[in-house]
Amino acid sequence: MTKRFSKRFEALATELRHNPFFRARLKLATSTIILPICGAILFYFIDNPYLYISVAICIAIIAYFISLFALRQIRNFMRSQKRFIADVSHELRTPISIIKTNSEIALLNEANTPPEITEILKSTVSEIDRMSKMLKNLLNLAQYDKETHELPMHSINPGEILSRITENMRPLALKSGITLAAENHAPHTHIRGNTTAIEELITNLLTNAIKFTKSGGTITSSITLDHKEKIVTLFVQDTGIGIPADKITRVFEPFFKYEYPAIGNRQKGIGLGLAIVREIVKLHHGTIAIESASNKGTRVTVRFPTI
Ligand SMILES: Nc1ncnc2c1ncn2[C@@H]1O[C@H](COP(=O)(O)OP(=O)(O)OP(=O)(O)O)[C@@H](O)[C@H]1O
Ligand SMILES: [Mg+2]
Repeated sequence: MTKRFSKRFEALATELRHNPFFRARLKLATSTIILPICGAILFYFIDNPYLYISVAICIAIIAYFISLFALRQIRNFMRSQKRFIADVSHELRTPISIIKTNSEIALLNEANTPPEITEILKSTVSEIDRMSKMLKNLLNLAQYDKETHELPMHSINPGEILSRITENMRPLALKSGITLAAENHAPHTHIRGNTTAIEELITNLLTNAIKFTKSGGTITSSITLDHKEKIVTLFVQDTGIGIPADKITRVFEPFFKYEYPAIGNRQKGIGLGLAIVREIVKLHHGTIAIESASNKGTRVTVRFPTI
């Protein structure tokens, strides 16, 4: 009996030492169950109402701090998980680019390679490209984390960035038969932000708009300024396929992608674009909203405080 008890105690001690979730759970259980029970027992023994109120306040404060420590522990754990994902993504980039180069070298000798091997090599290269994009996006997702980012923040002009990115993406839109228009109604407005991050945000929104709009459609983006509220609003609107009502709440989840049969292969993505966009918006203390109607189009609105 004593042996069994000591074994259990040892297992509990090991859990306490090595499992941060167990420690956090214990702290939360203490603050939500054990302390209120102590309060109830004290209520039974204490007659003086002033003393009871003082003890109850002390217990509430202790419970608050214990849960705060528990949540901090969970947050640290999540941070280290994100760092781990970023490190793994970084480490995998070199071997993957070596595999890609080797496959491409093998493809150079196409004339002397059996056609079925050529096909295999081509599909390998295309899958490697997809994997590289996924690793790059996973790294970006970690890099734009509001809590851990190390990005320099400057005064930047979002209207200028929108015009530049629109011009860069026009050939891609034209290739798909889509008209791309950008209106800058706030040419002198600045926000505090990171240029690369805002470029990435606009590129992701325009890429989605192009990808999910059929030939003949239009994409309009614009920057406006609300002088009174000191808010700059960026919107990207397309006349595309739209997002089904039951999927719209999930589009910001990492790896969520919904493939529309009507659009075919053009849409092949990873499902990280909007998750990255959301992190960038948070990093800039902004908000994001998405409205969509099937077969009518989608409108994404991003708001940032100006400086
Ligand atoms: N403008 C849009 N029109 C219609 N559907 C959209 C639009 N933007 C996003 N979606 C839907 O939201 C899903 C998630 O978008 P997200 O950008 O995160 O991923 P993706 O474009 O599929 O892949 P990735 O951006 O990683 O290449 C998409 O798969 C698509 O179903
Ligand atoms: Mg995307």
